[in-house]
Amino acid sequence: TSMNVDIGNALSSVASPGISRAGLERIDEQVAVAHERIERGMADGEHGYEALNLPEKTDPDEIRTAVEPVADCETLVTVGIGGSALGAATIVDALEAQGDGTETVFLDNVDPAWVSRRLEGLTLSETAINVVSRSGMTAETLANFLVVREAFDSAGVDWTERTIVTTGESGPLRELADRHDLPSLAVPDGVPGRYAALSAVGLVAAAVCDLDIEAILEGAAAERKSLTGSLFECPAYAYGATAYALDGRGAAVNAMMPYAESLETFAEWFAQLWAESLGKDDLGQTPVRALGVTDQHSQLQLYRAGPSDKLVTFVTPQAHEDRPIPDTDVDSLAYLGDGTLGELLEAEFSATEASLAAAGQPNVRIELERIDAAELGGLLYGMEAACVLAGELYGVNTFEQPAVEWAKNATRGLLGGGEFEEADAVEAKTELR
Ligand code: PA5
Repeated sequence: TSMNVDIGNALSSVASPGISRAGLERIDEQVAVAHERIERGMADGEHGYEALNLPEKTDPDEIRTAVEPVADCETLVTVGIGGSALGAATIVDALEAQGDGTETVFLDNVDPAWVSRRLEGLTLSETAINVVSRSGMTAETLANFLVVREAFDSAGVDWTERTIVTTGESGPLRELADRHDLPSLAVPDGVPGRYAALSAVGLVAAAVCDLDIEAILEGAAAERKSLTGSLFECPAYAYGATAYALDGRGAAVNAMMPYAESLETFAEWFAQLWAESLGKDDLGQTPVRALGVTDQHSQLQLYRAGPSDKLVTFVTPQAHEDRPIPDTDVDSLAYLGDGTLGELLEAEFSATEASLAAAGQPNVRIELERIDAAELGGLLYGMEAACVLAGELYGVNTFEQPAVEWAKNATRGLLGGGEFEEADAVEAKTELR
């Protein structure tokens, strides 16, 4: 099965901005053209489009074999940033309850105090390192890896026995892996960082946590099968086309609000996907991360009563673990004691969705049967396909990120890592102050 997308509350009969049936039909003609382009890109293994082939191309056995030497670690420290971290973090956070209890630590930021706190208290002899960088030269990742390595050396623990590397064919990280004979996996060609969750980039951490990576890929493959040339038949395209259409009508913000604590990192992953893929040529919807029910007590005020410039996207698992709310002898609380936390969560979601619709604020619901490996694989794939479609509709180059590369080059130049005109621009600006 594929995910279910309900766009009823994004229609102009309910919401403003909203899209009419006629508007949807017009966009559907563009969807058909975009779909042909996407299929062609996939068939030719073109840069970026190739990511949509990952459910068939990723070999879970290869990943399982590579992680074998560290499979019994107590803690896994993943060193990577952006697309090289968020997919893995999304998967292990979403499926934590189904794993083997391995503690996961993600080092993306280089805030020194934060890095030091993350490393404190780890039993390094029971800790493994998962270093991920497609380019193999991102300053934050390489710097953090060197810091982690030194921590192992200082504790007298051989890090070469406990490190897995995922990187491209060449670059400093590949050199390092070869020099120390570290087990390594390749970032597949043609797959940009933020589209790499369904490759070794996102699945090594999941495999170390003993999650069902085969089922993640199967769920994604099922979603892939639902890609057809019409938004009326394909949930992923329905989402991408609706978000695009609403943006064109004034919904410049897209608030991703899953109703599950374990999907909080998913909202972060989505924000990267949407921002880094579509934010170009003065276009793109600004993604915001929100969390149900928590943000009902903060952002919801703005979403209901603020400017009508937002699409709120809900992700709701239909089935979940539950827990009864205990009885009390306070009469006015009796209504809680009759129910469960799950019922409360569902009531809060229904209230929020209805309150936005009643205020004419557009919202879309993405339903999952439950949060498990297959459903999550489908969700990640579906959102990637939605984003690729939106990129076609906007007419931007979805798979490049020149602004991100600009900052990377500037940073390297400023630190003396080579001659970069971006660094000269920063220096010139600083001198002007
Ligand atoms: O999506 C992207 O391209 C970026 O977010 C990259 O993943 C990020 O900059 C890290 O790059 P790398 O994997 O080369 O270290």
